[in-house]
Amino acid sequence: MTNAYQQAYERSLKDPEGFWGEAAGAITWIKPWTKVLDDSRKPYYRWFAGAECNTCFNAVDRHVAEGRGAQPAIIYDSPVTNTVRTITYAELKDQVARFAGVLRGLGVDKGDRVIVYMPMVPEAAVAMLACARLGAVHSVVFGGFASNELATRINDAKPKVIVSASCGIETNRVIPYKPLLDHAIELAEHKPGHTVILQRPQAAAEMIPGRDHDWADSAAKAAPAECVAVAATDPLYILYTSGTTGQPKGVVRDNGGHMVALKWTMGAVYDVKPGEVYWAASDVGWVVGHSYIVYGPLLNGNTTLLYEGKPVGTPDAGAFWRVISQHKVSVLFTAPTAFRAIKREDPNAELLKTYDISSLRALFLAGERSDPDTIKWAQSNLKVPVVDHWWQTETGWSIAANCLGLHEFPVKPGSPTKPAPGWDLQVLDEGHHPCKPGQTGSLVVKLPLPPGTFYTLWNAEQRFFDSYLGEFPGFYKTADAGIIDEDGYVYVMSRTDDIINVAGHRLSTGQMEEVLASHPDVAECAVIGVADQLKGQLPLGFICLKAGVTKSDEQVLKEVVALVRETIGPVAAFKSCTVVKRLPKTRSGKILRGTMQKIADNQDFKMPATIDDPAILEEIDESLQSIGYSKARKEAVE
Ligand code: COA
Ligand code: AMP
Repeated sequence: MTNAYQQAYERSLKDPEGFWGEAAGAITWIKPWTKVLDDSRKPYYRWFAGAECNTCFNAVDRHVAEGRGAQPAIIYDSPVTNTVRTITYAELKDQVARFAGVLRGLGVDKGDRVIVYMPMVPEAAVAMLACARLGAVHSVVFGGFASNELATRINDAKPKVIVSASCGIETNRVIPYKPLLDHAIELAEHKPGHTVILQRPQAAAEMIPGRDHDWADSAAKAAPAECVAVAATDPLYILYTSGTTGQPKGVVRDNGGHMVALKWTMGAVYDVKPGEVYWAASDVGWVVGHSYIVYGPLLNGNTTLLYEGKPVGTPDAGAFWRVISQHKVSVLFTAPTAFRAIKREDPNAELLKTYDISSLRALFLAGERSDPDTIKWAQSNLKVPVVDHWWQTETGWSIAANCLGLHEFPVKPGSPTKPAPGWDLQVLDEGHHPCKPGQTGSLVVKLPLPPGTFYTLWNAEQRFFDSYLGEFPGFYKTADAGIIDEDGYVYVMSRTDDIINVAGHRLSTGQMEEVLASHPDVAECAVIGVADQLKGQLPLGFICLKAGVTKSDEQVLKEVVALVRETIGPVAAFKSCTVVKRLPKTRSGKILRGTMQKIADNQDFKMPATIDDPAILEEIDESLQSIGYSKARKEAVE
């Protein structure tokens, strides 16, 4: 007997054009497509070629026209400013149209880029939607990145305008954004003509006359702008994500396929109906924020919850339960690390007893592997399905999930269940042969990728090919390794590159190494990701000092930690580093990062046959023990 998931899955692979063509019926198009899937330039595929549409129209205006004008579109809940504000669809339409007018007044047109560097305030969503309204391409930069990272993105995206705010608030710390923005513009070679700044009462931004414009004043004066027709294949946004070097990858998403896929996932994956309250507790700076704070729920006519707070400390570990009960949230989506933080502070979920969370039907987790303990804790306390689903910035939505709107499978903790419809997921070994069930290999997806995924890297098609399509011809390389078991359940075990996941945030150890290597006293360095009970992983650095350095080790360590924070940003969470005499290497000079990570995490490891000098591992071990790692290595090896 087949279930709705199996039917959808099989059809999506056998007849992708029929499957996604049908899903596209849920979107309002200005002009229909000539081809659902354009495969005339393999391995580069495009969805809904020839069609015209507008994403903002489908996310906002359409709902007003269809009678949802008085329904809340956004509930802004900000414990850090003690604010709860509701914006209806009609109000959102007005605010977005006006802000689109502001951008147009500053010269923003179809295809122009706008960088959005904002905290978690509704204006961030308004700015994104206003860009979509004009056919401009937004690029949201997470607030926890430093000026240097922002400057890199400014140089790559070459925005006409940057939209920002005077400050962000981290629990009880006000973080002035404007000095960071000014410094980034100073550092960047490309100079945007204008900025629009949202002044928040917690900190006033100093404005540069002529360049900087006040959000409130400009919006009050602007003439509302109407939705502009764009090609379904035109870019909607660029979202930069960590690559293996300091140059981030600009993931590009289109308009048409993106709308079709996200709207479809709201029902098929999350099982939410229009009108319900949907909450993705993430940040607009991450892909989860793009897909499931802004576009997905709004395309589906939901009320989206925008939360400016943390799972703990704003004010306590009951914050999530308070928000769910106060706003009658139906579905919550967050990272496992948020639940680990809550569990650590309130292991018996005592605070949950004081709230009525009966509106909640499901919890979705992503961003990193969900450890079985966290899943079990959430299941037993929330008493709703807990769905671990696997995705990436590149994919925009889940590659594997328990698709609650189609069929609920029994959960195997540690597995994000089965490939979602549209995803021909396979496991290949080093020789590119299919692995047997249960055998670990590279997780790859047979092309074409479904709609809603990325179709290039901004200004870097060759890098797109080299990073994702070149190694396994005909497949997309996820850069995750894992298995598919005999029941078809997927297990995502580890990255095959140098990406680590810190508190659900994606970071590149290679990029951190570039920063460490730029310190004048550092001769050589390595950064690895070590296991952390709260954040999943944490970066850990090793540096070898140049001969003749007279500063103390402590002084250099302090300087390199500060340098990473200054260059990448606080989000890098780079706080542990140690000085070693030498780094373990193969005879050909490759640093044995994997072996170092196993030592740090007390895992068994085989002495690499190609190691240059095995004695160095003893030195590394001693050094790790001196900073609290690797306590049980000797026992583990024996
Ligand atoms: N602006 C400025 N600074 C920021 C920031 C922002 N938007 N976001 C994070 N930071 C800072 C933090 O204040 C912290 O600074 P510190 O080193 O001075 O303490 C640093 O960056 C590291 O942040 P983080 O790793 O997030 O740690 P945290 O201790 O602040 O919070 C959690 C830990 C688990 C509570 C938090 O990461 C969390 O809620 N994560 C789950 C939700 C999520 O982010 N998901 C993303 C993908 S779904
Ligand atoms: P990001 O691009 O920030 O979404 O990070 C993507 C990476 O996070 C993936 O390639 C995985 O390594 C990891 N990841 C995300 N979700 C999961 C999950 N549910 N299980 C295991 N790993 C995950």
